[in-house]
Amino acid sequence: MAAMYAVYHGPKGLKAIAERIAVYAQTVAAEIEARGFELVSEYFFDTIVVKAANVATIRAKAEAQKINFRYLGEDLVGISIDETIIVEDLFDIINCFENDTDPVAFDINADAGTYRLPESLIRKSPYLTHAVFNTHHSESQMMRYIKYLENKDLSLNTSMISLGSCTMKLNAATQMIPLSWSHWANIHPFVPVEQAGGYKELVDNLSKYLCEITAFDACSLQPNSGAQGEYAGLLTIKAYHEAQGNPHRNVMLIPISAHGTNPASAVMAGMKVVVVKALENGYIDVEDLKAKAGQYAENLAGIMITYPSTYGVYEETVKEINQIVHDHGGQVYMDGANMNAQVGLTAPGLIGADVCHLNLHKTFAIPHGGGGPGMGPICVKAHLAQYLPGHVFQGITGCSMRCLQRLTAQHPSC
Ligand SMILES: Cc1ncc(COP(=O)(O)O)c(C=O)c1O
Repeated sequence: MAAMYAVYHGPKGLKAIAERIAVYAQTVAAEIEARGFELVSEYFFDTIVVKAANVATIRAKAEAQKINFRYLGEDLVGISIDETIIVEDLFDIINCFENDTDPVAFDINADAGTYRLPESLIRKSPYLTHAVFNTHHSESQMMRYIKYLENKDLSLNTSMISLGSCTMKLNAATQMIPLSWSHWANIHPFVPVEQAGGYKELVDNLSKYLCEITAFDACSLQPNSGAQGEYAGLLTIKAYHEAQGNPHRNVMLIPISAHGTNPASAVMAGMKVVVVKALENGYIDVEDLKAKAGQYAENLAGIMITYPSTYGVYEETVKEINQIVHDHGGQVYMDGANMNAQVGLTAPGLIGADVCHLNLHKTFAIPHGGGGPGMGPICVKAHLAQYLPGHVFQGITGCSMRCLQRLTAQHPSC
């Protein structure tokens, strides 16, 4: 979508959009300054921060007009302008800084052509010079270009495609439609929680369902793909080992049959990958696993296994494998990409895993992003719950975000 945005608008269109945003931001800044307020920064493009003693009054006026500003501490108000803002919005924004609610008067054109940016930051070099960004600027041209690209694509509407587990299922169009609903798609990720009650209900319910399906205790919906889930899950394991006084545990065992994202995620999480052999029939070689778990026992962080495996087999040795890793002080990460072959039969939490991701675009039916990523929540056993991802801006720990009720007794801070 970002690429198509650039193709459609081209360098001139993008500049026009940016200039309008800059002028609107300048207008808001000038009008607020004229009402006796001071800005934190002399320079800005689309975002200003206003010093204000009466933040509560400003906030009340803003929320009454269904506007969210960013409140930084007790006396700073952040205001960001983007391309969705129209002139009427500027009146509403400025009115929040007025003593009364009468519409204010201002002249946008007075600001055009001047920027409140340092000269050194004003770009002078050309950009988006490729022909593709300078050709398709009408809706018809754009539609033809997208269709031309689609015709080159080998996708499910022409054939079976030889891509991995994502192809086991097809999303129905009705399952995609909510993406186009503004109430669903346009909510800002940092709106005050009380304005996102519907989302919260959805997040809480989904977390509960996923814990039920996986036989785990807590869930984080943050990761945006299976691969991101792996990364988040491994960081959870890492944080757990650190909290146990074992920061040196950094060896991750990965069977040769694993998907490529497994070793990639382990390396990104700062771990050392040790490969475990497979037998002729594709099963994990348990003898090799025992030998390697023993050899690296001192530094063992865990194992990443996929069940059923990428070769499509339900290994009867899966519980034994997980036990061996636990006996050597490691944690078991289960790659849930093939979870659709487990649902209703068994669950990661029942066969000895400590954490697993779920590719909701595979096991369930949420839309894919380009070529794979959709959503990769991770579920964990109780002992890992407090190491789930939190949020730095909001000072939230993983535990307080997603703990299921039955865990709150164990984690009173939730
Ligand atoms: C076994 C396995 N693990 C992980 C992944 C990565 O998942 P995602 O594409 O959602 O990042 C895949 C994707 O095909 C997979 O098949």
